[in-house]
Amino acid sequence: MKTKAAVLYGTNEKWQVEEVELDAPHTREVLVKLTASGLCHSDEHLVTGDIPIPFPVIGGHEGAGIVVEVGPEVDHVKEGDSVVLSFLPACGRCSYCARGMQNLCDLGMFLINGPQLDGTYRFRSRGQDVGQMCLLGTFSEYTVVPAQSVVKVDDGTSLDKAALVGCGVTTGYGSAVRTAETKPGDTVVVMGIGGIGINAVQGARIAGARNIIAIDPVEFKRDKARELGATHVAASVEEAGPIVGLLTRGQMADSFIITTDVAEGAYVGPALDLVAKRGKVIVTAVGHPAETQISGSLWMLTMMEKQIRGSLYGSSNAQHDVPRMLEMYNNGQLKLDELITREYALEEVNQGYEDMRNGLNIRGLIRY
Ligand SMILES: NC(=O)c1ccc[n+]([C@@H]2O[C@H](COP(=O)([O-])OP(=O)(O)OC[C@H]3O[C@@H](n4cnc5c(N)ncnc54)[C@H](O)[C@@H]3O)[C@@H](O)[C@H]2O)c1
Ligand SMILES: [Zn+2]
Ligand SMILES: [Zn+2]
Repeated sequence: MKTKAAVLYGTNEKWQVEEVELDAPHTREVLVKLTASGLCHSDEHLVTGDIPIPFPVIGGHEGAGIVVEVGPEVDHVKEGDSVVLSFLPACGRCSYCARGMQNLCDLGMFLINGPQLDGTYRFRSRGQDVGQMCLLGTFSEYTVVPAQSVVKVDDGTSLDKAALVGCGVTTGYGSAVRTAETKPGDTVVVMGIGGIGINAVQGARIAGARNIIAIDPVEFKRDKARELGATHVAASVEEAGPIVGLLTRGQMADSFIITTDVAEGAYVGPALDLVAKRGKVIVTAVGHPAETQISGSLWMLTMMEKQIRGSLYGSSNAQHDVPRMLEMYNNGQLKLDELITREYALEEVNQGYEDMRNGLNIRGLIRY
C-alpha cells in the first residue's frame, strides 16, 4: 500500500514528508493506522546524530492507533483494536523479560537498526529501503510494527493522549516511581521539564513526595511544572541548591532525575552534590554514545553511599504499565490533556521540532 510518512535522509537535514510504499505485515507483525504521534526529543537526536541510526529512516516512536491487519501468529490483538505502540518491544521469554525487566528485553538491540525483527524492511521510498525508528516509525499514517511492541488498550480510549504513554509519560513517571523508587515524604529534584521531565514531576507527586523541585531555564516550563505538581521551581541547578538545602535542613534530596534535552557527563557531579546519603541520581536523558566522562566526587560517592542509575523507559513494563497509566488518567490521578501544548499535521513536523527547540512545547503532537 501507499502511505504518507516523514523520512529523514541524513543528519542535520529536515524531515521529508512524502508518499512511501508499505508492505503487508509479516509473521508476528501488525499493520496499524496511527491516530497520533508525540514529538519526543529522541527523534531530534536522529537529526543531530546523538542517536546514530542508518538512513533513510521514518521517525517517531510515541504513537497510538487502530489495528488494520495482523500477520500470522499474532494472537493478542485483532483488526479494529485500539493499541498503544511501546517504543520498546518485550518478547516475554528472554532472561530479562522472564525476570520482570521487560524494559531491558533483548529485542532492545534492534531498536535503532532500521529493519523489522526478521531483518527485512517494510517501507520503501525513492527506490530505497527505509528503516523505522524504534521498529515503529510513528511519523506515518500507517505503519507495520512487531507484535511485541503492541499494547492493547480499552476500546474508546482517547488515542491522542494515549500516544504519549508509548514513551514520554511512562518514561518520566517510571523514572520517579520505579527507577528512583520515590516514597511518601521524599524530596525529588527534576532537571529539564519537557515531555519526560513533566511526567517525572507527576510520578513524584503521585508517589507522595513532600518536596518536588523542578529545574528549567524556560519560565513557561517552570509554570507547567508547578501546575502538575512541583512544589518549588528554579531556573538552574545552582539556583536549586539553596532551595533543596533549606527544604531538607541540609540533608538534601532523595533523588535527582536528569531529563534534559541531552545528557551531559558534567551534569552528574552537581546532581550528586544535591542528593542525600544513599540518594540517587537518575539519568533518563540520552547522551551521545561517545560521551564517556562523568563528573563527581568518588570520595562522596563512597562515604555517603550515593548512587547513579540509568533509567530506560522508567524501568517500566509496557504491557502492565500502559493500561494502568490510562486508568490513572481516567480516574483523574495522572494528567495527560495538560501535556499537549500544540498539535500539528504530519506536514508540519519540522515546525513542531522548531517549536520544541525554542522551548514552546511541553509536548507537540501530530494528529492524523
Ligand atoms: N531513557 C529513556 O527511556 C528515554 C525515553 C525518552 C526520551 N529520553 C530522553 O529524555 C530527554 C528529554 O526528552 P524530552 O522529550 O522531554 O525533551 P524536551 O526537549 O521536550 O525537554 C528537555 C527540557 O530540558 C530543558 N533543559 C535543557 N538544558 C537544561 C539545563 N541545563 N537545566 C535544566 N533544564 C534544561 C529544556 O529547557 C527542556 O525544557 C532526551 O534526551 C530524550 O532523548 C529518554
Ligand atoms: Zn521518546
Ligand atoms: Zn524479552
